[in-house]
Amino acid sequence: MTVALDHIAVQTDDYDNTVAWYKAYFDCEATWDRTFETLPRGIQERMPMCTRLVELQVGDIRFHVFDIKEGHTLPEASALQYQHFGVMVDTRERLYAMRDKWIRLYQSGRFRFKSTEQPSDYIPSPGEMLCFYAKDPNGLEFEVIHIAVSA
Ligand SMILES: [Fe+2]
Repeated sequence: MTVALDHIAVQTDDYDNTVAWYKAYFDCEATWDRTFETLPRGIQERMPMCTRLVELQVGDIRFHVFDIKEGHTLPEASALQYQHFGVMVDTRERLYAMRDKWIRLYQSGRFRFKSTEQPSDYIPSPGEMLCFYAKDPNGLEFEVIHIAVSA
């Protein structure tokens, strides 16, 4: 059996801001953009709170960003949810650049963030792995990882 990750779905009540940030931070480009009325009926029935959906792609990573209607309910604080997603970069320099870029975009004032939390420090792990954690404008956490390959 071959299974591969296809996409990460992000829901937001701050759509334009979120789409702009994903494009700026991850260098994504939109591959398609649909309003609720043009979504397949089965998706409409599953996601009645969705008003719009865009696919943003960078390399092999695809984000599906859902615009959800105002008045949605948040999950209870005790509810279990996906904790974060992780993306891999191919050099240490790129890892450092991604953390610097997060801070630069935050400080630019171009985007609204629900959380004021800044990226974590770099966290080393066995196997020459180094990572940091940060949050998207909605407070959804992700991890950026680099694993050095020893010669
Ligand atoms: Fe992780």
